[in-house]
Amino acid sequence: MKPSPVHQAEVAERLQRLEEKFAAMGQDLTSYLDGLLYADYLTYWEYVELDTLLSLQKPRTPFPDELIFVTYHQITELYFKLIIHEIRQIASHPSLTADFFTARLIRINRYVHLLIDSYDVMVHGMERDQFLKFRMALLPSSGFQSVQYRIIEIMATDMTNLVLPEDQGTLGRTSPVADLYETIYWKKGATELATQQKTLTLRQFEQKYSPQLLQLGEEYRTNNLWQRYQQLDKEATNQDLIGQLRRFDHLLNIQWKLSHLRSAVQYLQNDPVVIEATGGTNWQQYLPPIRQQIRFFPELWSDEERNEWGKIAKLTKS
Ligand code: HEM
Repeated sequence: MKPSPVHQAEVAERLQRLEEKFAAMGQDLTSYLDGLLYADYLTYWEYVELDTLLSLQKPRTPFPDELIFVTYHQITELYFKLIIHEIRQIASHPSLTADFFTARLIRINRYVHLLIDSYDVMVHGMERDQFLKFRMALLPSSGFQSVQYRIIEIMATDMTNLVLPEDQGTLGRTSPVADLYETIYWKKGATELATQQKTLTLRQFEQKYSPQLLQLGEEYRTNNLWQRYQQLDKEATNQDLIGQLRRFDHLLNIQWKLSHLRSAVQYLQNDPVVIEATGGTNWQQYLPPIRQQIRFFPELWSDEERNEWGKIAKLTKS
């Protein structure tokens, strides 16, 4: 089919713009056009790196349900990646507005909501007998070692909010990041009280990630979501933004943690015996949000709401 004069004019106009673009960088457009001429069309499988993606699920045992376990962890990590991507945009925005902040939080909350909604894949989607066997081949690894989860926490709030009130002592918002980091709630959860011995799972994690997390803590001291919220012109903030901040706090620190706790109850609670967690924590004491009392934005909750934090009827196997 012969191109119409209108089409030809459009092509000429694009070429002119391209010429200007490349000239501005001292580049020769014709060489780039040659590149286009020889380049292959992009395919879907190349774009999404399908072969690589599908090569990453590598169960360590022959139990079929382990594929579900490893794949669902990876799916979760991908959503964590998207959450971090959105938080970073809020943190680094040069002229942050309440609208931009709110729109990005809505995305974040959508991702967390999806994770909560899909969590039954873990709770009901695997045979318990298989789970209890294949997990022994995964020792001492644990989702506890998810660095992206810890990154989300550090990017969300002041590190003081990740330290339990009873451990805060003289620590405050301006205390050295290293001191705050050492008393963070999840380190306590993975430290045996009597001996102060850290679990191997925690020691491995610290060795690999502590330098990176300490640096992030420094970087996000003034840039975390709570700080960014406070830096906004108060006239410009609105109830939507506050609502989305509260929703994020509630979704991640209560609802996701409760969904997750449900999987531990489902597989590791064998009344009256409690099966040891792969990460070695006393998980019944450590995991429930009512015990953790972690809130990213404590100032946005009333005393009554704080008192009710994480309260639910006893979780039982279903
Ligand atoms: C059958 C499924 C699961 C069970 C039974 C389970 C069990 C546990 C247990 C017992 C802990 C406490 C640490 C330990 O001693 O190991 C833990 C922590 C954790 N797990 Fe899982 N988990 C499951 C699935 C997942 C999934 C799919 C993720 C997603 C990445 C995940 C992420 C985490 C995180 C982030 C922590 C730390 C939570 C905190 O510090 O409050 N877990 N898990």
